[in-house]
Amino acid sequence: MEALYTVSTVSYIHVSDVLEGKYEGKKVHLRGWVHRIRKQKKMVFVLLRDPSGVVQTVIKKTAVSEKEYADAEKMLIESLVTMVGLVKKDSRAEGGYEVQVEEFEVLHFAEEFPITEHQSIEFLNDNRHLWMRSRALTNVLKIRDEVFRATREYLRNEGFYETTCPMFVSTMGEEGAELFEVEYFGRKMYMTQTSQMHLEPQLFAMEKVFILAPSFRAEKSRTRKHVTEFWHLEVEEAWCDHECNLKRQEGLISHMCHSVAQNRALELKELKVDPERLLAVNPPFDRMTYEEAIAFCQKAGLDIKWGDDIRAEAEELLTKDNDNFLFVEYYPKEIKSFYMKYNPEDPRTYKNSDLLAPRGFGEVIGGSERETDAQRLIDNLIRIGDDPEKYKWYIDIRRYGSVQHSGFGVGMDRMITWMLELEHIRDSIPFPRTVSRIFP
Ligand code: 4AD
Ligand code: MG
Repeated sequence: MEALYTVSTVSYIHVSDVLEGKYEGKKVHLRGWVHRIRKQKKMVFVLLRDPSGVVQTVIKKTAVSEKEYADAEKMLIESLVTMVGLVKKDSRAEGGYEVQVEEFEVLHFAEEFPITEHQSIEFLNDNRHLWMRSRALTNVLKIRDEVFRATREYLRNEGFYETTCPMFVSTMGEEGAELFEVEYFGRKMYMTQTSQMHLEPQLFAMEKVFILAPSFRAEKSRTRKHVTEFWHLEVEEAWCDHECNLKRQEGLISHMCHSVAQNRALELKELKVDPERLLAVNPPFDRMTYEEAIAFCQKAGLDIKWGDDIRAEAEELLTKDNDNFLFVEYYPKEIKSFYMKYNPEDPRTYKNSDLLAPRGFGEVIGGSERETDAQRLIDNLIRIGDDPEKYKWYIDIRRYGSVQHSGFGVGMDRMITWMLELEHIRDSIPFPRTVSRIFP
């Protein structure tokens, strides 16, 4: 097959440049995919799509060569095209501009596109590799990029180093979360559930560290908030107590929301998300102790008692009438992890927190101050019936200049799902993995 692309001396502009009115009355070069096509007797209307948007173009029989017009009549949606045309203001066209085509070339004639207008979610998910060209999914992916970018921006500006951790691990990170086992040259390893254990040692080198990587959970939960592989932002900070940890989360989450509102206004509009909702995310977030949360849920009629986990139903109750994020603090030891900091005020609990997103959404972050005392860690592990020997290396870091530190983990896909008010977490991910979804 011939090479489709050669180094070009033509400067192509993007569709958004046309829609912003910068080229009215001018001749432009455009390239992209045929989004929609409408054929009339003497003209073909083509909605041209590139990553920046969709613009109406018109190919008139009298304006182009016979071959060009025949190709335009023959081509199907998703064909790859280039064109030269004159930009005209046109209130009838979506976006307010129309490009009147003078030269036109089909670089690749698409086969019949399997996705048409009315198709089941199942079919669309089976064809996700094609469906992601849809404007809705493209907009979500561009916002996902902005969330990742803004996260890195905030943390870098605050003096954090980005680092990496292994995805193959030999120990469990989060009790309760199920592990995926991997055959590793005749030995058993696991896909990591959290990078925290390998992140904490790194703060002894760099003080403030973060990782943005996948975590894996073999959870059978078929909810709109669970996937088996999710993108996890994990942050660890030295010289930082519980209070400092909550402030850090407030700063980060606010920055993420504001950045999306400011830098992705067009995409939000197309997704029908009000940017004001995101601009309204500001510190301080609301706070409630676990004890208060239990009392609140009991009062509302929920069958729940001290020591129970705060599950989806309770989280929904706690946040459904609220526009502000809510920290729930000081959960009991029994339902949280062994590495969390001893709480002298109430030794039944740890110095930990979950951050719940507004309007019934629920948990998006789990975090805590970390236990700095090696013996306490060992005692915690023994209490839950685990073997301290397996965590020797993790406990070791508390033996040489143990420093107060805190950290947290943000479910990035959940954050995006909340921001964009998506139906299901898989709608926030290019190729989601759930209990039943492993293809494409
Ligand atoms: O609350 P989790 O389990 O906490 C940890 O893993 C800590 N080690 C994090 C840390 O302190 N470094 O998970 C953190 C967040 C949750 O709040 C949730 O947003 C997300 O990860 N999460 C999931 N997201 C999608 N699908 C799943 N199955 C998830 N499990 C957790
Ligand atoms: Mg959690």
